[in-house]
Amino acid sequence: MTGDATGRLTGVAGWPVGHSRSPRLHRHWLARHGIEGDYVALPVAEEHLEEVVAALPKAGFRGLNVTVPHKVAALRLAHEATARAHAIGAANLLTFAEGRILADNTDGEGFLRNLREGAPLWEPGAGPAAVLGAGGAARAVVWALLEAGAPAVTLCNRTRATAEALAESFGARVGVADWVQAGNVVEAAATVVNTTSLGMAGKPELRVPLDGLRPGQVVTDLVYAPLETRLLREARAAGATAVDGLGMLLHQAAPAFERWWGIRPEVDGNLRAAVLG
Ligand code: ATR
Repeated sequence: MTGDATGRLTGVAGWPVGHSRSPRLHRHWLARHGIEGDYVALPVAEEHLEEVVAALPKAGFRGLNVTVPHKVAALRLAHEATARAHAIGAANLLTFAEGRILADNTDGEGFLRNLREGAPLWEPGAGPAAVLGAGGAARAVVWALLEAGAPAVTLCNRTRATAEALAESFGARVGVADWVQAGNVVEAAATVVNTTSLGMAGKPELRVPLDGLRPGQVVTDLVYAPLETRLLREARAAGATAVDGLGMLLHQAAPAFERWWGIRPEVDGNLRAAVLG
């Protein structure tokens, strides 16, 4: 899938997309590797996604990331998709090659790389995982936790039916608990992941009971603005290993950049600074 696209443009389509840090991230790598290309944010409404994606290769694009709310639709409109994109049920990465659209999903890989980097001693098989939330981001996280060998994953979501639908598509290792049980589920887990938007700047705080957090647990939050959420602060205070969510953004981007430009870029302190700056 690498190397046969010819356009010099890449980007991310979302709605809204103005807050996206991906242009900074990819432009950092483009500059670092002396590649004459660009990465732009494209505000695309849901009803226009298909039309826009179909036109982009003709406008010099070699590929496109898609973010909320387009990830499920992006998988559907692709001609081909990787096994992991099918398993996750969504795509975040499209590559245009020879008139065809190829879909992949690097969110789960990014999630795992970030956890392994931030918590080198993490043993996914050591115990069950607790996942708070059951939206689009949770799908990739559940897939990744199962891939990594978590013996069980318990989903806790405000809307239980959404969690049940998600659990059903992943089989017997994934279970569901009521949102009011979140404190107990967190306490019983070896790995704890917040995939809800709670705790993000401008959103309500994640208010589930966190007094069950303890040493030995690995706790991560997909929210990265702020970098240290209440969940991560409480985890650290309890002696657990806390991993912030910015690394997931960086690590999901690296395989996209590699697919498009044929170079595996580095995820390092310079990149973090460029993205935060
Ligand atoms: P994403 O694709 O980023 O995961 P999403 O699909 O909108 O975004 O999912 C957001 C998640 O945050 C959902 O699990 C949502 O719960 P519901 O399924 O009940 O909507 C959760 N969430 C958002 N606001 C919440 C709140 N105030 N309390 C609890 N959960 C909330």
